[in-house]
Amino acid sequence: MKRILTYGTYDLLHYGHIRLLKRAKAMGDYLVVAISTDEFNALKGKKAYHNYETRKEMLEAVRYVDLVIPETDWEQKIDDVKTYAIDTVVMGSDWTDDPRFECLRDYCEVVYLDRTQGISTTQIKKELNLPQEELFES
Ligand code: CTP
Repeated sequence: MKRILTYGTYDLLHYGHIRLLKRAKAMGDYLVVAISTDEFNALKGKKAYHNYETRKEMLEAVRYVDLVIPETDWEQKIDDVKTYAIDTVVMGSDWTDDPRFECLRDYCEVVYLDRTQGISTTQIKKELNLPQEELFES
Protein backbone atom coordinates (compact mmCIF):
# COMPACT_ATOMS: atom_id res chain seq x y z
CA MET A 1 0.00 0.00 0.00
CA LYS A 2 1.45 3.36 -1.05
CA ARG A 3 0.61 6.16 1.36
CA ILE A 4 0.44 9.83 0.37
CA LEU A 5 0.39 12.92 2.61
CA THR A 6 -0.46 16.51 1.78
CA TYR A 7 -0.83 19.75 3.79
CA GLY A 8 -3.05 22.82 3.50
CA THR A 9 -5.80 24.94 5.01
CA TYR A 10 -8.53 23.88 2.58
CA ASP A 11 -10.83 26.79 3.44
CA LEU A 12 -13.88 27.37 1.20
CA LEU A 13 -13.23 24.04 -0.55
CA HIS A 14 -13.01 24.62 -4.32
CA TYR A 15 -12.21 22.74 -7.53
CA GLY A 16 -8.49 23.63 -7.31
CA HIS A 17 -8.42 21.72 -4.02
CA ILE A 18 -10.42 18.80 -5.42
CA ARG A 19 -8.13 18.45 -8.45
CA LEU A 20 -5.06 18.50 -6.21
CA LEU A 21 -6.59 15.81 -3.95
CA LYS A 22 -7.63 13.67 -6.92
CA ARG A 23 -4.11 13.72 -8.40
CA ALA A 24 -2.54 13.12 -4.99
CA LYS A 25 -4.73 10.07 -4.37
CA ALA A 26 -4.00 8.73 -7.86
CA MET A 27 -0.31 8.59 -6.88
CA GLY A 28 -1.00 5.92 -4.27
CA ASP A 29 -3.64 3.98 -2.32
CA TYR A 30 -4.19 5.96 0.87
CA LEU A 31 -4.33 9.76 1.19
CA VAL A 32 -3.76 11.61 4.44
CA VAL A 33 -4.57 15.34 4.47
CA ALA A 34 -3.10 17.45 7.28
CA ILE A 35 -5.05 20.69 7.68
CA SER A 36 -4.05 23.73 9.70
CA THR A 37 -5.87 24.11 12.98
CA ASP A 38 -7.39 27.49 13.77
CA GLU A 39 -4.67 28.04 16.37
CA PHE A 40 -1.92 27.28 13.84
CA ASN A 41 -3.53 29.67 11.34
CA ALA A 42 -3.60 32.37 14.03
CA LEU A 43 0.09 31.75 14.62
CA LYS A 44 0.65 32.35 10.89
CA GLY A 45 -1.43 35.54 11.12
CA LYS A 46 -4.30 33.97 9.14
CA LYS A 47 -7.97 33.33 9.81
CA ALA A 48 -9.97 30.78 7.83
CA TYR A 49 -13.64 31.44 7.03
CA HIS A 50 -14.61 27.91 8.16
CA ASN A 51 -13.26 26.58 11.42
CA TYR A 52 -11.11 23.46 11.69
CA GLU A 53 -13.99 21.06 12.46
CA THR A 54 -15.99 22.27 9.44
CA ARG A 55 -13.01 22.10 7.08
CA LYS A 56 -12.25 18.59 8.38
CA GLU A 57 -15.86 17.45 7.92
CA MET A 58 -15.92 18.68 4.32
CA LEU A 59 -12.62 17.02 3.44
CA GLU A 60 -13.75 13.74 5.01
CA ALA A 61 -16.68 13.79 2.58
CA VAL A 62 -14.31 13.86 -0.41
CA ARG A 63 -13.89 10.39 -1.91
CA TYR A 64 -10.14 10.79 -2.48
CA VAL A 65 -9.42 11.52 1.20
CA ASP A 66 -8.87 8.63 3.60
CA LEU A 67 -7.80 10.47 6.74
CA VAL A 68 -7.73 14.09 7.94
CA ILE A 69 -5.27 15.03 10.68
CA PRO A 70 -4.50 18.38 12.33
CA GLU A 71 -1.44 20.46 11.45
CA THR A 72 -0.57 22.34 14.62
CA ASP A 73 2.98 23.54 14.00
CA TRP A 74 5.73 23.87 11.37
CA GLU A 75 7.87 21.15 12.94
CA GLN A 76 5.56 18.13 12.83
CA LYS A 77 6.12 16.99 9.25
CA ILE A 78 8.90 14.46 9.82
CA ASP A 79 6.90 12.91 12.67
CA ASP A 80 3.81 12.73 10.44
CA VAL A 81 5.78 10.94 7.72
CA LYS A 82 7.00 8.38 10.26
CA THR A 83 3.71 8.01 12.17
CA TYR A 84 1.60 7.43 9.06
CA ALA A 85 4.31 5.46 7.18
CA ILE A 86 4.15 7.95 4.31
CA ASP A 87 5.83 7.15 0.97
CA THR A 88 5.18 10.47 -0.77
CA VAL A 89 4.42 14.02 0.34
CA VAL A 90 2.54 15.92 -2.36
CA MET A 91 2.09 19.69 -2.52
CA GLY A 92 0.87 22.24 -5.02
CA SER A 93 3.53 23.98 -7.09
CA ASP A 94 3.29 27.13 -4.95
CA TRP A 95 5.50 25.16 -2.52
CA THR A 96 8.13 24.04 -5.05
CA ASP A 97 11.62 23.89 -3.49
CA ASP A 98 10.38 25.21 -0.14
CA PRO A 99 12.89 23.99 2.51
CA ARG A 100 9.97 22.99 4.77
CA PHE A 101 9.18 20.22 2.28
CA GLU A 102 12.62 19.67 0.70
CA CYS A 103 13.95 18.52 4.09
CA LEU A 104 11.51 15.59 3.96
CA ARG A 105 13.47 14.02 1.09
CA ASP A 106 15.58 12.15 3.65
CA TYR A 107 12.42 10.33 4.73
CA CYS A 108 10.12 10.03 1.70
CA GLU A 109 9.52 11.16 -1.87
CA VAL A 110 8.42 14.81 -2.30
CA VAL A 111 6.34 15.77 -5.34
CA TYR A 112 4.94 19.16 -6.39
CA LEU A 113 1.86 19.21 -8.64
CA ASP A 114 0.83 22.11 -10.87
CA ARG A 115 -1.80 24.34 -9.32
CA THR A 116 -5.13 24.74 -11.10
CA GLN A 117 -5.11 28.16 -12.70
CA GLY A 118 -7.70 30.82 -11.97
CA ILE A 119 -8.98 29.76 -8.55
CA SER A 120 -7.90 30.19 -4.94
CA THR A 121 -9.52 30.75 -1.57
CA THR A 122 -8.10 34.27 -1.55
CA GLN A 123 -9.72 35.00 -4.91
CA ILE A 124 -13.12 33.61 -3.83
CA LYS A 125 -13.03 35.81 -0.73
CA LYS A 126 -12.18 38.83 -2.86
CA GLU A 127 -14.91 38.20 -5.40
CA LEU A 128 -17.56 37.54 -2.72
CA ASN A 129 -16.33 40.47 -0.66
CA LEU A 130 -15.67 38.16 2.28
CA PRO A 131 -13.19 39.35 4.89
CA GLN A 132 -9.63 38.73 3.73
CA GLU A 133 -7.16 36.91 5.93
CA GLU A 134 -6.80 39.17 8.90
CA LEU A 135 -3.66 39.80 10.84
CA PHE A 136 -4.15 38.91 14.47
CA GLU A 137 -2.97 41.42 16.99
CA SER A 138 -0.25 39.88 19.09
N1 CTP B 1 -4.17 24.27 -4.80
C1 CTP B 1 -4.12 23.96 -6.17
N2 CTP B 1 -4.73 24.79 -7.07
C2 CTP B 1 -5.36 25.91 -6.66
C3 CTP B 1 -5.43 26.24 -5.27
C4 CTP B 1 -4.82 25.38 -4.37
O1 CTP B 1 -3.55 22.94 -6.57
N3 CTP B 1 -5.93 26.70 -7.57
C5 CTP B 1 -3.50 23.39 -3.86
C6 CTP B 1 -2.37 24.10 -3.10
O2 CTP B 1 -1.20 24.16 -3.90
C7 CTP B 1 -2.23 23.23 -1.88
C8 CTP B 1 -3.68 22.75 -1.64
O3 CTP B 1 -4.40 22.99 -2.85
O4 CTP B 1 -1.42 22.09 -2.16
C9 CTP B 1 -4.34 23.50 -0.48
O5 CTP B 1 -4.21 24.88 -0.76
P1 CTP B 1 -4.69 26.06 0.17
O6 CTP B 1 -3.54 26.97 0.42
O7 CTP B 1 -5.46 25.55 1.32
O8 CTP B 1 -5.72 26.78 -0.86
P2 CTP B 1 -5.63 28.10 -1.72
O9 CTP B 1 -6.86 28.20 -2.55
O10 CTP B 1 -4.30 28.20 -2.42
O11 CTP B 1 -5.74 29.20 -0.56
P3 CTP B 1 -5.12 30.66 -0.43
O12 CTP B 1 -5.69 31.50 -1.51
O13 CTP B 1 -5.58 31.10 0.96
O14 CTP B 1 -3.61 30.48 -0.51
